[in-house]
Amino acid sequence: MIEFRDVHASYDADIKVLDGVSFQIQDGEFVAFVGTNGAGKSTTMRLMNGLLKPDAGVVLIDGVPTTQLKTSQIARQVGFLFQNPDSQICSNTVREELLFGFKALGEVGPDAEARVDGVIKEFGFDPDDDPFLLNRGTRQLLALASIVVLAPPVVILDEPTTGLDYKECVKVMDIIRRLHEAGTTIVMVCHDMEVVGDFAKRVVVMSQGGVVDDGPTFDVLRNPQTLTRASLIPPQIVDISLALPLVDERLATSPLAFANTTDEMQAAIAQEVC
Ligand SMILES: Nc1ncnc2c1ncn2[C@@H]1O[C@H](COP(=O)(O)OP(=O)(O)O)[C@@H](O)[C@H]1O
Ligand SMILES: [Mg+2]
Repeated sequence: MIEFRDVHASYDADIKVLDGVSFQIQDGEFVAFVGTNGAGKSTTMRLMNGLLKPDAGVVLIDGVPTTQLKTSQIARQVGFLFQNPDSQICSNTVREELLFGFKALGEVGPDAEARVDGVIKEFGFDPDDDPFLLNRGTRQLLALASIVVLAPPVVILDEPTTGLDYKECVKVMDIIRRLHEAGTTIVMVCHDMEVVGDFAKRVVVMSQGGVVDDGPTFDVLRNPQTLTRASLIPPQIVDISLALPLVDERLATSPLAFANTTDEMQAAIAQEVC
């Protein structure tokens, strides 16, 4: 479980970035963080993997404050896909890149080699390819694969579909869905509300360094106040469901609602149309 208790954070002492953030994420959840640019989503993710420590309050991973955990201990628990995959690719070949995490954790050996081989096959990579010569979508997949190979119980993804075309997006989200189905806790920052609506079970909405809404995806994305406050455009399915009560209302007050015969209906429709 990940828990934030009244977390305050900043990069520069004068400017507060997070201002009292609290939430809990249980094992096995699929949570999306949404909100405007600069709301503090990426900062919240950095606090979850220990890259940043709170100024006040506490971030707990399985009940232990991140301030008491070594980076390597957190890395074993929490895999992190950065907003830009290039910032986490550093090897000359795909195979070395996939082994890198094991090297950093001091866990190189036959098990690690076997896991790397399995992931190369699963993702369809050429192990000898130079990561920097791959296209943007494949580099994103490689960055994701370098997390998947370590099988951490929690995976944090900061904008995993940004910059990808539709096909690449489907591929990345399919892998994330499978990770979740296998029991991995998924925490994802995402600006694409269609992706959020399709995959996340819970949505946390951030605005100006605070949490302004938190709940089941469709409850949150149907809340007009939340949508306005965080400038969110709901996914189409929610848009349609938001429009339905209006249709119901119109039908209830329309002569159509009182029509008993086809003739009466046609007359009512003609009247509505006119
Ligand atoms: N490395 C950094 N140094 C200084 N300020 C930063 C840094 N990263 C983010 N910020 C500031 O913190 C605020 C929140 O940023 P961020 O957490 O990246 O928001 P989001 O991911 O929701 O767009 C913004 O005002 C941003 O300018
Ligand atoms: Mg961000």
